[in-house]
Amino acid sequence: MAAEIIDGKKVAADIKEKLKKEIEDLKSKGITPGLAVVLVGENPASKKYVANKEKTCESLGIKSLGHKLPESTTQEELLKLIDDLNADPSVHGILVQLPLPKHLNEKEVMHRIAPEKDVDGFGPDSLGRLVLDEPGFIPCTPHGAIKMLEAYGIDPKGKNAVVVGRSIIVGKPLALLLLRKHATVTICHSRTANLKEECLKADILCVAVGKAKMITGDMVKEGAAVIDIGINVTPEGKLVGDVDFEAAKERAGYITPVPGGAGPMTIAMLMYNTVLAAKMKAGMTLDF
Ligand code: GUN
Repeated sequence: MAAEIIDGKKVAADIKEKLKKEIEDLKSKGITPGLAVVLVGENPASKKYVANKEKTCESLGIKSLGHKLPESTTQEELLKLIDDLNADPSVHGILVQLPLPKHLNEKEVMHRIAPEKDVDGFGPDSLGRLVLDEPGFIPCTPHGAIKMLEAYGIDPKGKNAVVVGRSIIVGKPLALLLLRKHATVTICHSRTANLKEECLKADILCVAVGKAKMITGDMVKEGAAVIDIGINVTPEGKLVGDVDFEAAKERAGYITPVPGGAGPMTIAMLMYNTVLAAKMKAGMTLDF
């Protein structure tokens, strides 16, 4: 039987609807959540992502403060901007779109963002909190993956979860979140000896590598929940994930499409973190 499609667009819409109410409530208290979005250079994919983030902010009532800087921006200039945004009380969250141009030190920039404004969740304070199971900003893409599982009633507790990919942005934090939900977690990567064998054990298979058709149908366990976090463009210009969707959906129990799965969820969770930042600053919590 073909898999149930996990509709990331719908789950994201439901989360944004809840956030809208939170934002209205904040506004009635005189607080408008503000997100500073920093883009350096002309990377076409980054420009598109940033435009999407800004559009979503507007639609929810979050104030989006765009900072578009030229490719020639120096490290000192970028750090100065981060310092200014850290000090600006109207800015609750700071997002520096990655990748930065090669001449800039990405790590130093991400470490400079004030921990209470780190809505990407990539800084050492946020990632440390994730390891420590303490409240904090959770990176948006892995958080979105967890929310999709939740929305479809898929409980990781006691299940074998396999994460393919060990990036700081997705794979590692996602493995920690699955562990937090009591899954038995395996992380696979480029040096994994027998990827197929590992994947076939997965009740929950999450893939974040960035390689089209990396996961073929015969690597999916019957009935597994497959979360595809890859975004790849084929030579024909089509957007595809890391999983061979057509083949995998014949074996999986649940599967996320690309587009329409992890992508919309990432933006929704960025909005979530921005509202969380504004609420935390006002001494409140965000309870979903
Ligand atoms: N580039 C690709 N994905 C992301 C993301 O989630 N956040 C930022 N800041 N840059 C990215």
